[in-house]
Amino acid sequence: GKDKELIRGSWESLGKNKVPHGVIMFSRLFELDPELLNLFNYSTNCGSTQDCLSSPEFLDHVTKVMLVIDAAVNHLDDLHSLEDFLLNLGRKHQAVGVSTQSFAVVGESLLYMLQCSLGQAYTAALSQAWLNMYSIVVAAMSRGWAK
Ligand code: HEM
Repeated sequence: GKDKELIRGSWESLGKNKVPHGVIMFSRLFELDPELLNLFNYSTNCGSTQDCLSSPEFLDHVTKVMLVIDAAVNHLDDLHSLEDFLLNLGRKHQAVGVSTQSFAVVGESLLYMLQCSLGQAYTAALSQAWLNMYSIVVAAMSRGWAK
């Protein structure tokens, strides 16, 4: 329905430039919770958040996150087909020390990035549509986390 159209329509342009948009998202994430920087063990090489966000390891993770979002957008009609992947992804984050509460802060950062990137096109309906999709992704990751 309407949610899917809003998500697909907005992702059409954003998805073509995943890394820069992912960097906006993670800059916001580390602003909201600087402690999360410590969960990347290679962050010990970073003098500042800005250095971290330009390191290959961070850009690599940013790319991975954006590819998961891309997969979710491409599977809006059958999100459950990503279930096993997302359970496993949640389990991996449990192993590296990411709490499920932090997933919610990523969601907040995702909305911030959308707002920055979409300008006028960022509406209440659009942000709700994205939040709904992201919540499904995070619910599956959280189930895997708790297993
Ligand atoms: C892997 C941290 C959120 C997707 C990792 C790793 C760390 C990490 C330390 C292992 C090292 C690496 O592969 O770079 C975090 C932190 C997060 C976060 C601190 C903030 C709460 C997310 C979210 C997604 C995601 C929301 C996707 C929706 C991935 C993927 C991998 C990964 C796809 C690779 C897993 C694999 O090796 O198969 N994350 N992550 N991460 N993360 Fe995250």
